[in-house]
Amino acid sequence: MQSRLASIRLGRGGEVESNAGIADVATRFRMLQSYVDWSERDAERIRELRPLLEPHLAEVVTDFYAAIDRYEATRRVLRGGSDQSERLREALKRWLWDLLSGPYDSGYVSRRWRAGWRHVEIGLPAVFTHVAMARLRFKLAEVLRCVWPASAEQLNDSMESLNKLLDLDLALIEDAYQTELSARLQANERLAVLGQVAGGVAHELRNPLNVVATSVYFLQHARNLTPEKMTEHLKRIERQVGLADSVITALARFARLPQPARSVAGLRGLVQDVLDTIVVPEQVRVEWDWPAEDPQVLVDVDQFRIVLSNLFRNACEAMPNGGVLRFRAQGSRDSGMVDLSVQDTGEGIPEEHLTRVLEPMFSTKPRGLGLGLAIARAIVERNGGHLSVTSQVGAGSTFLVRLEAAGTHGEGGESA
Ligand code: HEM
Repeated sequence: MQSRLASIRLGRGGEVESNAGIADVATRFRMLQSYVDWSERDAERIRELRPLLEPHLAEVVTDFYAAIDRYEATRRVLRGGSDQSERLREALKRWLWDLLSGPYDSGYVSRRWRAGWRHVEIGLPAVFTHVAMARLRFKLAEVLRCVWPASAEQLNDSMESLNKLLDLDLALIEDAYQTELSARLQANERLAVLGQVAGGVAHELRNPLNVVATSVYFLQHARNLTPEKMTEHLKRIERQVGLADSVITALARFARLPQPARSVAGLRGLVQDVLDTIVVPEQVRVEWDWPAEDPQVLVDVDQFRIVLSNLFRNACEAMPNGGVLRFRAQGSRDSGMVDLSVQDTGEGIPEEHLTRVLEPMFSTKPRGLGLGLAIARAIVERNGGHLSVTSQVGAGSTFLVRLEAAGTHGEGGESA
């Protein structure tokens, strides 16, 4: 469940803010119900347990908190004294009542998920929710065995239904933990990228600023400054300001990538259009390996042009002495994806750099911000695709862009 739930926005106190988020949890919960063959009969059996268990709920709750109290690791989470203790007992009683009453609809899912989230907030290690659930399970079974009025076979069926529900509930608690973990990982990743980007920008800006500072110093202190010298230094300053500006523009483009507005487009036309706008060196030959039926893809055309021009430029720069730039397309009806590969016969990328070339601020070029391929990857991923690279030193590199084929989301495309 984790990946979809990770998109849920949590307010202060863990309230699930987005309706789409709640709907997502409920949908996933239904999937899990079907995974364990949950049926209306299970719900009925559990409702029948309620009058049997109700007189003993206080006993179940007491057993639950006695266990918490026995272990230092769980005891130290309870910092609120007797008030909190009372609140917890009431909360668990309500939780059990809800468990035995249903209905197991989206309201139920939302309440249970929030209770799970509360434990994330108080810093209870997730493992204790598992053992605490086991404790509840044993105690409920023990009570049921004592009070059961019918056959052992029927008890077995009812226990099976109850176990299914307790497992589903545990999945919801677990999910709240995973949501938090995934949010934390994303935040760490963002911080790491920010650090990389900040370091790269500082490095790239320092150079032009140094040149500007030197020229300004010269202009301020030079004796007998000739008009030619002055023009030369002003031009140098202008050039370096332009360079600094291009660093900032690239950065802004990376940081403010808008939401894609995807539409259906023919891949061949897209590649050709962009190819016409870049300067392919004379000694680079372009080859096509294209299917008879041009693949139709679902992309934000303007954004995708940036991807293609970055890939083409990169390929041409990898072949300073000429070579072949080969475009290959292949669609797969099964996966609903289209593969476009952009292959060069250039220098290739050493293995130790291969995993990093798509990261921001990684560049092997003497001049270069290292954002071109990172921007390409970010755009492709935002458009629901994937960008990968393979390479062999001395033989060349292949960038593989996997895109969603048009038609997999119904007629005429969609806006993402
Ligand atoms: C699967 C087992 C558990 C269930 C079903 C459960 C149930 C609940 C419920 C329903 C709440 C109220 C949530 C809310 O405010 O919306 C709650 C809160 C809490 N639970 Fe649990 N719990 C479990 C395990 C544990 C364990 C092992 C501890 C160990 C210390 C614990 C400590 C707490 C604490 C400290 C609170 C917050 C109380 C407050 O608001 O002050 N829970 N729990």
